[in-house]
Amino acid sequence: MDNAGVTTEPSSLTSALQSRIAQAIAAAGGWLPFDQFMALALYAPGLGYYANETAKFGVLPESGSDFVTAPEISPIFGQLVAAQLAEALDRTNTHEIWEFGAGTGALALQILDELAAMGRLPARYTIVDLSGTLRARQRLRLTPYGHLVRWVDALPEAMEGVIVGNEVLDAMPVQLLQRTKGQWFERGVVVQGDAFAWEDRPTELRPPVDIAGPHDYLTEIHRQGEAFIHTLGEKLARGAALFIDYGFGESEYYHQQRHMGTLVCHHQHQVDSDPLVLAGLKDITAHVNFTGTAVAAQEAGFEVLGYTSQAHFLINCGLAPRMDAANLKARSMASKLVMEHEMGELFKVIALSKGVAPWAPLGFVRGDRTHRL
Ligand SMILES: C[S@@+](CC[C@H](N)C(=O)[O-])C[C@H]1O[C@@H](n2cnc3c(N)ncnc32)[C@H](O)[C@@H]1O
Repeated sequence: MDNAGVTTEPSSLTSALQSRIAQAIAAAGGWLPFDQFMALALYAPGLGYYANETAKFGVLPESGSDFVTAPEISPIFGQLVAAQLAEALDRTNTHEIWEFGAGTGALALQILDELAAMGRLPARYTIVDLSGTLRARQRLRLTPYGHLVRWVDALPEAMEGVIVGNEVLDAMPVQLLQRTKGQWFERGVVVQGDAFAWEDRPTELRPPVDIAGPHDYLTEIHRQGEAFIHTLGEKLARGAALFIDYGFGESEYYHQQRHMGTLVCHHQHQVDSDPLVLAGLKDITAHVNFTGTAVAAQEAGFEVLGYTSQAHFLINCGLAPRMDAANLKARSMASKLVMEHEMGELFKVIALSKGVAPWAPLGFVRGDRTHRL
């Protein structure tokens, strides 16, 4: 147990979370839709993966971590994101940055260091994160900017500024849809003995596009992620938003060959496809449907300014001179951000604006793929 009385020992952590989820399944009549299971497995207070004290982020499993994100790989990531944010603050004539899902605070620190070096610090940097334990890590890391940074639990009625989120949309719970012998089911979780098991129930829910072919097919829909974009659109009176994540447009997402969906778990830098075991010790994530994100954004009053790969985005934002100035080790780490077989192609960036005249943002001047959404 840690000093807050929260279990941190792995086996008791996962068994406490299992009991918590089993109670929720019983309260729901014996079957819990997967998105509700995922929400508990990731965010149940004190127990869920993002709510407990395990390390999570890191380059190597020896650190006790499970996965690595771009700002943990190289500070050049945050420096280049900062260049785009500085332009967006100017073009929207706003003065605040809002970061969603700030992890260890690495990206915030890189952005603030870079903006400080440019003499362009924002009036305020607000972090919104569901995780109390990560919030404590962020607070420690961002001590040098303590006067600028604040954390909020709820969004104000109206906000202005530039929003940024790296790998936050993929952490939002998804619903699972399974087509078996031509009939669609929603996949949920039941208790079987002392373990969890899948159970499919007939549903009226459908993927946003028809899936070609008669074969059995498992996929995800992203109602929570899209509702999140709607909420941002309702609240943001003037500003812009930049989301970076792994995913595709919907023709690729719902391609007939992608019959196993994109849901995966990360544990000790290994990927597996079974979220029902080791709940609380694994990250659970699904790719982002960027067409769904763009449509939700447009419905919520945003303009889509650009959509491109992370490689194009970082190169457009000035990667080459940063690489030239870096030593060999730093250059080799930064190259992971753009190499096609690492993060360069799978990760995408989408830029949105609201309440201002649209412009062609720096990061999308070459290689914009908005037309493919
Ligand atoms: C995969 S981590 C990414 C962290 C960080 N952005 C990075 O790049 O290292 C996902 C983060 O999103 C947060 N999160 C998930 N859903 C959220 C939501 N609806 N609002 C705010 N934060 C959220 C998690 O607590 C976690 O900090």
